[in-house]
Amino acid sequence: MARKSDFSESFQSTKRGRRTSKNSQLFSAEEHARFEEMRTQFDEMPQDDGPPTGDRWSIWWDSEPLQRGPEPRPEWVITDHGAVDYELGVLKTGKEADVFLIERAVPGTDRAVIMASKRYRSAEHTQFNRAGDYTAGRGAKRSRDARAMAKRTTFGLEQAAGRWAAAEFDALKRMYNAGVPVPYPVQILGREVLMEFIGDGRAAAPRLAETKPDEVELESLWEQAGEALRRMTELGFAHGDLSPYNTVVHDGRLIVLDLPQVVDLYANPLGFDFLTRDVENLGSWFTARGIARDEVEDLQAELKALAAMP
Ligand SMILES: Nc1ncnc2c1ncn2[C@@H]1O[C@H](COP(=O)(O)OP(=O)(O)OP(=O)(O)O)[C@@H](O)[C@H]1O
Ligand SMILES: [Mg+2]
Repeated sequence: MARKSDFSESFQSTKRGRRTSKNSQLFSAEEHARFEEMRTQFDEMPQDDGPPTGDRWSIWWDSEPLQRGPEPRPEWVITDHGAVDYELGVLKTGKEADVFLIERAVPGTDRAVIMASKRYRSAEHTQFNRAGDYTAGRGAKRSRDARAMAKRTTFGLEQAAGRWAAAEFDALKRMYNAGVPVPYPVQILGREVLMEFIGDGRAAAPRLAETKPDEVELESLWEQAGEALRRMTELGFAHGDLSPYNTVVHDGRLIVLDLPQVVDLYANPLGFDFLTRDVENLGSWFTARGIARDEVEDLQAELKALAAMP
């Protein structure tokens, strides 16, 4: 959308040009006066082209088709041009990203949905220790990106934040399509990933680590963890940072979060090690609560066998 200032500038420069041009007689004094009045009116229009309500216009249409979630789209996803996004608050500030609670609403209607917005940091607080091992075999396509990342320049930090966001969005899409229990990925724009909010109303679902399941629930959650790991392994991925802090429990369902560092089991030489560690990190939480150690060993063996026959 052309901004007022663009219009105004070009208008003025035309006017300036006209004064010196030999065609300066083209416009009568009245016309000049009328143009001048039009320009003044335009200058007085509100500067702000922001939404009438909310914190920003919905960014839905700013994302390209490939930057949106898989079809068929759940019916709760709001794609209206007139929708606005409200930032309701911070859900969690993390090491590399902050998670916000966003409401997308259509003004004048009762249509609204709450989503989680994960925004990767581009600034100096970001930690890059994580990057080396995980990204082995991924490759930065443009060598300028790679060099900048190595130097940790501002450009590099911005690029890296966008890459983490893209990696998470991509992983969410693949996992969602394969039936791994993850939030539905709504869209990605730059460093921001918008996804399904797992919770009730504005209250986020508790992390697995915060739950106190009874025996039956524990058995069910362990079963679900095994199933999620089987599906990821079949896809050829290890989560890379699976833990009772990166999984939440909602309505008895275990949902896996935090996927930017997914590891390709075959391209990454440490792929199997990451898988083993994932199972161990989650498994030890379960064994501490009563799941037999043998079950964890069995799952390790099963997944190894599964990964060995792509
Ligand atoms: N889609 C979601 N629905 C509900 N809660 C979420 C969602 N995404 C993230 N959260 C909450 O925010 C926390 C942080 O999310 P996530 O683990 O993806 O980010 P992070 O920056 O990696 O955090 P950390 O550094 O603590 O691991 C999660 O543990 C969870 O409590
Ligand atoms: Mg996390």
